[in-house]
Amino acid sequence: MAWQPRGRVAVVTGASSGIGEATARRLAHAGMTVVAVARREERLHALAAEHPSIRPYAADVRDTAAIDALAGWVDRELGACHALVNNAGVGGGPFRGRDDLDDVLRTIDVNLAGTIRCTAAFADLLERSAPSRVVNVASVAGKLGIGPAGYAASKFGIVGLSESLGFAWASRGVTVAQLNPGFIETEGFPQEQIKRGPMGRLVGQPEDVAEAVLEVLLSGVPERTVPRWYRGFVAFRHLAAPAYRTVAARMARARGTRD
Ligand SMILES: NC(=O)c1ccc[n+]([C@@H]2O[C@H](COP(=O)([O-])OP(=O)(O)OC[C@H]3O[C@@H](n4cnc5c(N)ncnc54)[C@H](OP(=O)(O)O)[C@@H]3O)[C@@H](O)[C@H]2O)c1
Repeated sequence: MAWQPRGRVAVVTGASSGIGEATARRLAHAGMTVVAVARREERLHALAAEHPSIRPYAADVRDTAAIDALAGWVDRELGACHALVNNAGVGGGPFRGRDDLDDVLRTIDVNLAGTIRCTAAFADLLERSAPSRVVNVASVAGKLGIGPAGYAASKFGIVGLSESLGFAWASRGVTVAQLNPGFIETEGFPQEQIKRGPMGRLVGQPEDVAEAVLEVLLSGVPERTVPRWYRGFVAFRHLAAPAYRTVAARMARARGTRD
């Protein structure tokens, strides 16, 4: 039978802005009870005021005890977790050397380790709630190696985690998907430079990604790139890696980046 959102429970991290906020809203409109997680509590309360089935919960994905407490609260209050959307993330700067180490490690801690912490905390509840889904918001940067190196590393990590867990957890009734957005205009990623250049029309909106999250929940597919037109770049990288590297290296030289 098809996976139905109505009456089911979703946990969305990074729900105080951008893609996570749009996703929490979309899933609530689809009939789910949504636990909206982030650090900025006032933003979560404003979101929850919009829809009676959005429940705000303040937590930092870098804090293992706080994330374990979140999973315990969801179990006690709602009794299930049918969908975990690991979306909380930060951009991070260039990786030139020792001075950038703290920033790179922080990016890995939020994006990759945060995803791992949440997935670990909810694993048992997801299995008890099966058929259930994990949707990990990675990035096209996790397929192409573009952008700051620490960010790309964190997203490649999420792609590998999703692929491996997808196989390992299928027998537990839990699907694990990687959702890879291209350039999306949000508070944390305003895309000002891209919007001014020839790639400007490729910039998508958080609602495009929210819709894709719902589609992944409904279909159970293991991978989705959004907006759709970025799929050609991902296919090019995988089917013609040497040609892709030549083009990407030229683009990096043109931008003058060293990271
Ligand atoms: N926008 C793009 O172009 C793009 C492209 C590909 C992938 N992505 C990915 O999409 C996800 C969402 O990004 P966005 O574009 O929507 O950016 P955003 O508007 O800056 O949202 C980031 C969210 O993550 C939360 N967050 C950050 N650090 C956190 C922490 N330590 N603990 C808990 N929550 C934390 C923020 O909430 P608080 O600050 O309130 O905690 C916020 O809700 C990220 O994983 C990003 O890498 C974005």
